[in-house]
Amino acid sequence: TKIAVFASGNGSNFQAIADAIAAGNLEAELMLVVTDKPKAFVLERAKKAGVASFSFIPSEYDSKQSYEEMLKGKLQALGVEWVVLAGYMRLIGPVLLEAYENRIVNIHPSVLPAFPGKDAIGQTLAAEAINAGVTVHYVDAGMDTGHIIAQQSFPVLGRGREKVEQQIHQIEHELYPATLQQLFDR
Ligand code: GRF
Repeated sequence: TKIAVFASGNGSNFQAIADAIAAGNLEAELMLVVTDKPKAFVLERAKKAGVASFSFIPSEYDSKQSYEEMLKGKLQALGVEWVVLAGYMRLIGPVLLEAYENRIVNIHPSVLPAFPGKDAIGQTLAAEAINAGVTVHYVDAGMDTGHIIAQQSFPVLGRGREKVEQQIHQIEHELYPATLQQLFDR
């Protein structure tokens, strides 16, 4: 299965996917990493993993429609079948949603529908929620509102932010590759 990963930051989830492919645990081909942040660390990771990358600056385009048309062209030229969002900090618009209907997924660090949007871990802690966790979901036009595919949660038990973050990332790095494999097997 040919995939593209969209990321805006560190890219540890990209790394987990690349590692799972290299280990033979995920049958997929990383065609492209796309970022809207030309300095994002994910670009270093892509280079090291030998994966092609593409950076763009959204403000250099007239509209979301125009940069998504450009991205769609690149993805289609590479034969990309699924778009995997991994810390991509932008909403996907109609152009990509229509081109990749039910073929765009995201990972979010909360037990959705609780705490969508930015800083979900901060929101979880501020609310003194009993459970923290991770959700993999299909992407629709909303913010973290698409159909849920997989979730994993754990009790917060009064731990500090760093510990909770660490647990979230550990779960993400297992759950995302495993869930992608299940989707691609269908
Ligand atoms: C992850 O926690 C993911 O759930 C959220 O953004 C973070 C990205 O982390 N959407 P990384 O860039 O993959 O390390």
